[in-house]
Formats: sequence, C-alpha cells, structure tokens
Amino acid sequence: MKIAICGKGGVGKSSIATLLILAFLERGYKVLAIDADPSPHLARLLEIPMEITPLAEMMDLLAERAQKVGPYYTLNPKIDDLPERFTLTKDGLRLMVLGAIRTAGGGCACPEQTVLRRLLTYLLLTSKEVVLVDMEAGVEHFGRATVAPVDALLVITQPFKGSIETAKQIVKFSRDLGIKRVFVLGNRVKSVEQEMILKGEFQDSYLLSFPQDEELERREIEGMGLWNYRGILFKNAQELQQKLVELLHETT
Ligand SMILES: Nc1ncnc2c1ncn2[C@@H]1O[C@H](COP(=O)(O)OP(=O)(O)O)[C@@H](O)[C@H]1O
Ligand SMILES: [Mg+2]
Repeated sequence: MKIAICGKGGVGKSSIATLLILAFLERGYKVLAIDADPSPHLARLLEIPMEITPLAEMMDLLAERAQKVGPYYTLNPKIDDLPERFTLTKDGLRLMVLGAIRTAGGGCACPEQTVLRRLLTYLLLTSKEVVLVDMEAGVEHFGRATVAPVDALLVITQPFKGSIETAKQIVKFSRDLGIKRVFVLGNRVKSVEQEMILKGEFQDSYLLSFPQDEELERREIEGMGLWNYRGILFKNAQELQQKLVELLHETT
C-alpha cells in the first residue's frame, strides 16, 4: 500500500510517519520511506546515518533524462530502478530522501515532484510492502497532484484553528484529486474535549488521536531519534497500522 502523510508545518507529520514505519516493520512489512520534505528529518528520526548523498546522483540522472523547456522540466524517466540505487537501508526499511533537489535544481520544484509522482504511480508492491511518504508541509504540492497515486492520505492536525484549516484544505484538495481514502489524525490531543472538536470538524474522515508525549521533547533535546521508542505514541501507531490494513483490505 502507498500512503502519504500531509499537514501544516510542525503538526507531527515526521514523528507519526516514523512511528507508523516502525509499526509496519514490527509486523514484518518491508517499508520504503520517502522523505519529500525540502527540510528532511526522517533519517534523523529513524537513526539512519546520512553519510551518503543520493541526491547528487539523482540530479545527474534527472539531468540525463530531463529536458528543460522554459522554466519547466519535462521528464521521460524510467525510474523503476531508482529505489535500489537511491536508498539508504536499515533492516526491512529503505529510505529515499528527495528534499534537497529543489535547491540543487536551481529553484524549480518540478523534477522531484515528477519523480515522486511517477514513483508512486509505477511502483508495484506485494501485499507485505508499504511505501510511506512524509510530504512537504502545507498544500502547495496538491497543485501538482504529486500524491494523487497514493492508496491513502493521512492528514495530521493538532486540535487548533491553524492546523485544522490546513487539514480541511488538504481534505478538499485530495478529494478533488480523486484520492478515495483520506483519513484525518489528531496529534497532541490532550483531552476528550479536544478530540470532540476534531471529530466534529472532520466527521467520518477522523480516524484516531495521538496524545501528547513529553518523551519526544526529551529525545529531541538529547538528539535522539525514535528507533527504539516504544512509548504511548507507539501504541497509537500500532493501532493506526492495524486500521490501515483493515481499511485498505490487505492481509496482515
Ligand atoms: N504527540 C506529540 N507529543 C509531543 N511532542 C510531539 C508530538 N508530536 C510531535 N511532537 C514534537 O513536535 C515537533 C514537530 O514534530 P514533527 O514531527 O517534526 O512535525 P512536522 O513533520 O509536521 O513538521 C517535534 O519537536 C516533535 O518532537
Ligand atoms: Mg517533518
């Protein structure tokens, strides 16, 4: 299954993406994690040393296969070989980082968006494989339909106005793109009242709530990732993993 995680900046996309990756790994899935945020954090959270830089090579490949027409790239990429060549690996996990192509590419956001869309379109997965994309914050990429090929979109929101408004926009845009399964997740939900607000706002799209856990802050301060984190939020991630498997009609 192919899943993307969206939402306003700072709502917890990368944290929840990481925990969901860990929950899928625990169930024996192979996971391809794609960090599509221009300011990537997944490698750090997954405690994968970023000593190799696949991006430069990917740029070469893009340059090989891309033609710049005016300010835009038209790509005719055969990118089914990208995952093997451009991923960092750790156990059953492979990580691909797209983020920095934007600056390396001289300001045009098109190549990596096109690569990502095509990857999501053409990757063929077995039932025990998952692709999980940690998207750029906000709604900009919806204009380029980057996430249109996913099986499910997870929209993260905190129980406050700003992120709720962004989440609503995302839900609307993703419906316009024809994404059928759009699920909203609350993060840093501190009370039943806050959860009621979110359920009221998103109705049937609302899937579950992640509470606040101060351990995340402690880990941030100590520069630790989440690889061995098994606190309360991991339980929620396990529940989310189960729900996704059920909702997307996969066998565990
Ligand atoms: N449920 C939570 N409890 C406590 N801290 C959290 C929680 N979710 C996220 N955080 C913290 O909030 C900050 C932003 O989270 P992050 O996952 O990087 O958000 P995003 O990827 O959406 O920008 C991080 O410092 C993270 O540790
Ligand atoms: Mg992030």
